Amino acid sequence: MKTRIAEKFQSLFQTEGEFFASAGRINLIGEHTDYNGGFVFPGAIDKGMIAEIKLNGTATVRAFALDLDEYCEFGLNEEDAPSQGWARYIFGVCREIQKRGGVIAGFDTVFAGDVPLGAGMSSSAALESTFAFALNELFNLGIDKFELARIGQSTEHNYVGVKCGIMDQFASVFGKAGHLMRLDCRSMEFEYFPFAPDQNGYKVVLLNSCVKHELVGSPYNDRRNSCERVAKVLGQEFLRGATMEQLEAVKDQISEEDYLRARYVIGEEKRVLDVCEALQKGDYETVGARMYETHWGMSKDYEVSCEELDFLATVAKECGVTGSRIMGGGFGGCTINLVKEELYDNFIATAKAAFAEKYGHEPIEIPVVISDGARKLA
Ligand code: GLA
Repeated sequence: MKTRIAEKFQSLFQTEGEFFASAGRINLIGEHTDYNGGFVFPGAIDKGMIAEIKLNGTATVRAFALDLDEYCEFGLNEEDAPSQGWARYIFGVCREIQKRGGVIAGFDTVFAGDVPLGAGMSSSAALESTFAFALNELFNLGIDKFELARIGQSTEHNYVGVKCGIMDQFASVFGKAGHLMRLDCRSMEFEYFPFAPDQNGYKVVLLNSCVKHELVGSPYNDRRNSCERVAKVLGQEFLRGATMEQLEAVKDQISEEDYLRARYVIGEEKRVLDVCEALQKGDYETVGARMYETHWGMSKDYEVSCEELDFLATVAKECGVTGSRIMGGGFGGCTINLVKEELYDNFIATAKAAFAEKYGHEPIEIPVVISDGARKLA
């Protein structure tokens, strides 16, 4: 990928820049908890974005998206917002840096990625973090890593229209090979957890249903609104910390739908903590059991699954897979599966065949390798 980027950069700009990269992410458990002030448990993966960048001495950004074969030029003022979706991410990062007092100028860039788009693996966070990290280095801005993550998140809020939490950008900035991170999205304290399922006889694999999820204009923001309404009725800033008893006590003051959304979120908080504890003991059975609970909570109460993902989780269960669930924002994308090594081949073959028979195409198998987050490449 780097070679292809370098060739294009040379042919477009007749020079060489520096290379930066960032990662997509998985999340073992803790879904739709981030904007509720709860816990998440993600890790960066070996798939992400790479960008070659060089300052060009003008006030214009000249960007080429290699995967889409599209070029775009834009200025750095608010009224210069480009119309292409992908360019808005880069523009948003520039603007959010400027809003924080960072002085930046024009640059040339060619970038490409290998995170499947719309698969719930945070391709957009990888793009944001690559540019936030790179511009921080290239312009010596001295922005700390949390703020780099927030720059990506604000880009989503203000330039893309997704009121996302901080998980994806946090994971792609802070990711560390061989480790998951438990982040408390209220205090922003986090801890690295070594994650080596292979040493315990397990594999982690994603199955991409190839049902494209599109969080922009999707019910993602509606879910967030439901949670905020219930938190307000409970007199809290976030749903974090609320109990099922408290929820039951206000049941007649909220809609049935909001009740179900909150029930899922409150349950999920405990599941994340259970999983972290189980992982430390090497108790993968508990990890897997909670993953299934999350899946069906996301499907029935939070209603962010789809038929294809429910099908994949069901097939996983039938194949004896330890844990399986929808991953990420929902409405399509992947399941994440924790599978005993000896069951792996049979599971993958069965899931592919059964899915293809029902939906006309196979799900794509993506083995998970937990890797480093945002960085400069040599
Ligand atoms: C998307 C958002 C995240 C998070 C997840 C669900 O990936 O970007 O902030 O809310 O959905 O856990």
